[in-house]
Amino acid sequence: MRKYFLFCLLDLVFVIFCFSNLNAQSYDPDTLALTPPMGWNSWNTFKCDINENLIKEIADAMVSSGMKDAGYEYVIIDDCWQVSRDSAGNIQADPEKFPSGIKALADYIHSKGLKFGIYSDAGLKTCQGRPGSRGYEFQDARQYAKWGVDYLKYDWCYHGTQDAKASYALMGMALRATGRPIVYSICEWGTNKPWLWGKEVGGNLWRTTEDILNCWDCRASWGGMGFVHILDAQDSLAKYAGPGHWNDPDMLEVGNSGLTLSESRAHFSLWCVLAAPLIAGNDIRKMTPEIRDILTNKEVIAVDQDSLGKQGRKVKDLGDLEVWSKELRDGSRAVVLFNRSKKSAKIGISWEEIGMNKAALMKVRDLWKKKDLGVFKNGYSATVPPHDVIMIKVTQK
Ligand code: GLA
Repeated sequence: MRKYFLFCLLDLVFVIFCFSNLNAQSYDPDTLALTPPMGWNSWNTFKCDINENLIKEIADAMVSSGMKDAGYEYVIIDDCWQVSRDSAGNIQADPEKFPSGIKALADYIHSKGLKFGIYSDAGLKTCQGRPGSRGYEFQDARQYAKWGVDYLKYDWCYHGTQDAKASYALMGMALRATGRPIVYSICEWGTNKPWLWGKEVGGNLWRTTEDILNCWDCRASWGGMGFVHILDAQDSLAKYAGPGHWNDPDMLEVGNSGLTLSESRAHFSLWCVLAAPLIAGNDIRKMTPEIRDILTNKEVIAVDQDSLGKQGRKVKDLGDLEVWSKELRDGSRAVVLFNRSKKSAKIGISWEEIGMNKAALMKVRDLWKKKDLGVFKNGYSATVPPHDVIMIKVTQK
């Protein structure tokens, strides 16, 4: 009897020990990313063609271009930085592309006042066939923390029969157990509705859709698509976004070859109204002044970063002509008049349609022209060029 009692007691101590370890949280993931994360990621432009010099030059350009001043913070290396594991299971960076090691790169990025992000995959391999984190979740998370990683993008290739929520919960737990605040970006393309469980597993943002492509409205057979198709999948998800946890319609294609200047402007405006993470995906070392002006327009970025954290909604849909509106902390609205057609068109909106008093007098400011347009009663309308937007802020007089 005494022996049995002793066993039970030991069991109890063991269970308490495991439980307290699993819940070892030295930070609350909900306190990270209180506004949508902003940064740069290597994938859209460079795919696997990355190395430490490129990433350092990007960090330099982030500062010299004014992007850092405008709020961009994370420099994120996507797939292909890793090649193998050593005999102890430690993940190894490509020694030819990253000869100084990941810690040295993280230190460089930190020395510029920026933060450092990295990429892995919940399955056996990454999408490009590099080692994934399955079975190494805690070991990898500890390694990231030692290197000084501030952001993890966690992909979903080669997942076999894994359960998505359980797999993402495991890495969420591993990240928290490190004690280092690491923004957790869930990238499972919306397949398992991560908006329903992403917050619960410690996710700060979750991809809602397949990969964005460098085009207006193309589609790839594997599911990748241009930004207008991605936009079409976002409206119904608005209620799941808020401070600390965001819908992620994918990284920006602003400034890439498949979009005209006006299409880049439209893409950026709409991502801001969606309260989307703003992760640039162009070569910011070589961007034109016009593209830089889009990516660093502080008034437009302020819409994305508004502390109320409300994702905007489509309030009017006339086929190719749409109006999107986002409520802001000060009670005003950011409104995007979006012309998807190939001809200029007049688009109008009433104050009532954006949830404001029908007959109120409203101040209207054009956020791209950075110009006050005057005071308007009942509503506002304007002619919008093809594949372009007019973006205004509407404030009670
Ligand atoms: C997936 C992701 C992309 C990118 C690639 C890298 O397709 O959705 O964003 O990370 O993998 O292989």
